[in-house]
Amino acid sequence: MNNFNFYNPVKILFGKGQISAIADEIPAGARVMVTYGGGSIKKNGVYEQVMTALKGHTVIEFSNIEPNPHYETLMQAVEIAKRQQIDFVLAVGGGSVVDGTKFIVAAMEFEGEDPWDIMTKRVPVERAVPFGAVLTLPATGSEMNSGSVVTRVSTKEKLAFSSPFTFPKFSVLDPETTFTLPLRQVSNGIVDAFTHVLEQYLTYPVNAPLQDRMAESILLTLIEEGPKAIHNPQDYDTMANIMWSATMALNGVIRVGVPTDWATHYIAHELTALHGIDHARTLAVVLPSLLRYKGKEKREKLLQYGERIWGVDAGTEDERLEATVMATVSFFESLDIRTKLSDYEVGEDTVKTIVKRFQERGVKNLGERADIQIDDVQQILMMSL
Ligand code: NZQ
Ligand code: ZN
Repeated sequence: MNNFNFYNPVKILFGKGQISAIADEIPAGARVMVTYGGGSIKKNGVYEQVMTALKGHTVIEFSNIEPNPHYETLMQAVEIAKRQQIDFVLAVGGGSVVDGTKFIVAAMEFEGEDPWDIMTKRVPVERAVPFGAVLTLPATGSEMNSGSVVTRVSTKEKLAFSSPFTFPKFSVLDPETTFTLPLRQVSNGIVDAFTHVLEQYLTYPVNAPLQDRMAESILLTLIEEGPKAIHNPQDYDTMANIMWSATMALNGVIRVGVPTDWATHYIAHELTALHGIDHARTLAVVLPSLLRYKGKEKREKLLQYGERIWGVDAGTEDERLEATVMATVSFFESLDIRTKLSDYEVGEDTVKTIVKRFQERGVKNLGERADIQIDDVQQILMMSL
């Protein structure tokens, strides 16, 4: 097992009715900015629950944070929050609202010229205004991690940052808030969380059986509960299991002491930036090709994954590898998530554009062995056409 430091200070308030407890988590007298998206929280009672809980606080609102949150929108929030002397921000919504809020709280304290430098020049975030979250879409894990992904519309860039200062102080996970999710978002969430686990698991063995089995337990839970969620998205117990699985998939626990491979996410973000395809769907396109392309390097873990998760135990090694990738593809497709670029009307010209962008950005050394270079990215994308 590799050395590791583990730090995760996020307090989780899980379950029905927990929104009412948020006032106890926010300093008395704090001026609170509530951030949210396009209005789903007004249709499912979450907004009312939040406002009732915050009635002892001064509250201002910032709405219309879009999916794949825009830097341009978030900067408006930063300006308002500074003017209003906001000292606590509460994100209410899906991963985009939570991610957007992380950027807002970091940008509020940013002392350089343009907070976008946090993304492009990797200027470290050294302070941030405290914030909490009420999650309404299980998928990203953003509610219990310090990462954020922001899109700059003017340049069509979608880039990530993280900092020890952008962990939420607390996150409410009430499965009832998910009951209004469109099926498309339920499927997206399952595939996003599943891919997060695979990116921390399908690398090479370092004799970390506990991390392996924890990763496998999340995968198996998603495989069992996913179809139930699609058939009955208002079943409390099912959504509770999906919600906790998605959080556990990316809160840092399963990545300790093991190599990770975030190449799928890194490449897939370009497809959202260029074509607006839902995040999870871009992962479903890139991941199978990446696993095939890197089948040799990932062989031991892929065979383990195939056998323990999908029961693939017969045939030659190559046959087992292909059967394992196909089982993953079939799972995604069973959730109505297509897995080819052509399913999204994306062709070779986009592959060329991504390659050019990576060249300009000097992208190199992706993957757990730092051996995925731009030529490899091109081949992986060509295999996804
Ligand atoms: O904007 P509203 O009206 O709230 O509607 C949203 C949005 O249209 C809707 N929605 C959310 N909760 C709902 C609901 N509709 C009905 N009922 C509810 N309870 O769902 C739509 C999508 O929301 P969004 O927040 O964009 O989805 P998701 O949670 O999948 O977040 C995706 C973003 O997270 C980033 C992605 O790149 C993408 O930008 N990621 C963040 C990560 C992190 N911070 O660790 C890791 C992930 O890999 C991912 O990259
Ligand atoms: Zn993701």
